[in-house]
Amino acid sequence: MDHWRSRKNPEGGVGGISRRRYILLSPASSIEGKVIHVRRLGPQPADQPAEWTAVREICCRTGNDGKPVAGERWNFFARLWIEPYEKICPGWTYIAEGDGAIVGYLTGCPDTRAFARKKLWRFTFPLLWNIARGAYPDNKDAGRFLRQFFYLDRETERGFPRRFRSELKRFYPAHLHINVQAEWRGLGIGKRLVDHFRENLKSVGVAGVHLYCGERPVKFYLKIGFSELARVEFHGRPVFALSWRPGDPTLDRPPSLV
Ligand SMILES: CC(C)(COP(=O)(O)OP(=O)(O)OC[C@H]1O[C@@H](n2cnc3c(N)ncnc32)[C@H](O)[C@@H]1OP(=O)(O)O)[C@@H](O)C(=O)NCCC(=O)NCCS
Repeated sequence: MDHWRSRKNPEGGVGGISRRRYILLSPASSIEGKVIHVRRLGPQPADQPAEWTAVREICCRTGNDGKPVAGERWNFFARLWIEPYEKICPGWTYIAEGDGAIVGYLTGCPDTRAFARKKLWRFTFPLLWNIARGAYPDNKDAGRFLRQFFYLDRETERGFPRRFRSELKRFYPAHLHINVQAEWRGLGIGKRLVDHFRENLKSVGVAGVHLYCGERPVKFYLKIGFSELARVEFHGRPVFALSWRPGDPTLDRPPSLV
């Protein structure tokens, strides 16, 4: 991700996110009547560096439960959440553009188990090597990533039983992450991003989508057709497992997911 690392962040945060082609924030008052385009990114990230840079920036602007993460976390944070999708399945990322800017994105993959295998070799091990070489000194996110890798700290989804997680991936193979800039929420952008993703999944015969999330976006997902399968408490906060599949969502569902 050289284009990411090499540029200076105009706002002084770490990570060097460029605004060369896209202005990312627009006041809510100016968006009324504006046309919003949703499009799928191509299979070659090198052909769309500005788009991927914008996706990373939105990730950091929204990654703290919808609010921005602290500037010093941006570089590692965006790498952690965006790079696996950029490297492994770039054609399953979608962006929403409004007013000449990228204002939201969805990253996803059609087969979470295959994605996880590739992620280990193409993302996790290289990142561990970077951390070991001192690329992220005193970075708390990097520290947590290390601890989670060695099972000294639990990832959020590990709050759910192993059998449940495994069946979830089997029965609803795809997963997604979605973020819309604060000023552009409530305009139908999130639904359009998910609909585009679901259409493409259906066209290649993928059986369903799952995701884990905190409480805040749950109503959005329920509104657009997802179902709540389970919830657990993790560090005192609820975490939800949600799913969607075309047709009857209960059909053939294994007992562990009922
Ligand atoms: C969650 C998020 C992606 C939704 O995107 P959005 O563009 O604001 O949602 P939409 O405008 O497409 O909403 C679709 C429907 O869900 C409803 N909805 C959206 N958010 C809602 C909420 N918090 N509570 C109740 N309903 C909600 C909308 O009213 C709309 O219903 P309608 O069709 O009857 O009008 C966006 O709010 C966001 O990025 N939030 C912060 C980051 C986040 O939580 N990401 C998800 C992490 S898992």
